[in-house]
Amino acid sequence: MNTPVAPIYEKSKFRTHLSLRRKTRKQRYSEKMKSSQYLPITIACVNFMHDGNLAFLMRAAACFGVKDIHVIGSVPERADLKHLSGSTCDFINIVQHSTPAEFIEWANKNDTKIVSAEMCSKSVKLRNYKFDFHQKVCIFTGHETSGVPGEVIHVSDCVEIDMPGPGFCLNTSQAANIVLYEATKQFLEK
Ligand SMILES: C[S@@+](CC[C@H](N)C(=O)[O-])C[C@H]1O[C@@H](n2cnc3c(N)ncnc32)[C@H](O)[C@@H]1O
Repeated sequence: MNTPVAPIYEKSKFRTHLSLRRKTRKQRYSEKMKSSQYLPITIACVNFMHDGNLAFLMRAAACFGVKDIHVIGSVPERADLKHLSGSTCDFINIVQHSTPAEFIEWANKNDTKIVSAEMCSKSVKLRNYKFDFHQKVCIFTGHETSGVPGEVIHVSDCVEIDMPGPGFCLNTSQAANIVLYEATKQFLEK
C-alpha cells in the first residue's frame, strides 16, 4: 500500500509576486514609473553579433534606471529588440555613433567618464574601484569576440570582475550588468 507523502511545504507561503499579479503589464509599468529614478549612468557597446546581448542590456538598463544606451555601429530592428527585451526597450533611448572616435568625442563634450568592463593591463578589480559621480559615468562593455575597442580602452578606466571559477570570460551583457549593479550600489549609498 502506498503511504501518502506529507506535503513538505504549504503552497500559499511560497507564492511569489508573479503569482500574485492582478494588474496588466501596462498598469504595472505605469505604476512603477511614478516612483522610478534615473541614474547619472549610461551604458555603451559596439554592435554585437547577437541581438540578445543589446536586448539584455536594455532590460537591465530599464530596471536599474539607465535611460541611454550608446551603440557604436548598427542597431537591430526595434521589433527584434522589443521581443528579446521583454518590451523594456520602450524605456530606453538608443544613441548611435558611427565610430569609437565619435563616441569618445561625445563623452568628452558631455563631461562623461568612460568605465570599460575589460580584462587588460590597465584594469583594476571592480571590487576596489570607486566610481566618481562628479562626472556622469558611462559603462562600456565589449564585443563578443573583439572586446572593447582599443581607442576606448585608451581613454577609459578599466574594471575587471573577479572570476574564481574555471571559465575565463563572462558574457558581455552579464559583465555589464555586474558593473552596473556595483555603480548603482555606490551611487545609492553616497
Ligand atoms: C566574451 S568577452 C570578449 C573576449 C574577447 N575575446 C577579448 O579577448 O577581449 C566580452 C566582453 O565581456 C566583458 N567581460 C567579460 N568578462 C569580464 C570580466 N571578468 N571583467 C570585466 N569585463 C568582462 C568585456 O567587456 C569583454 O570585452
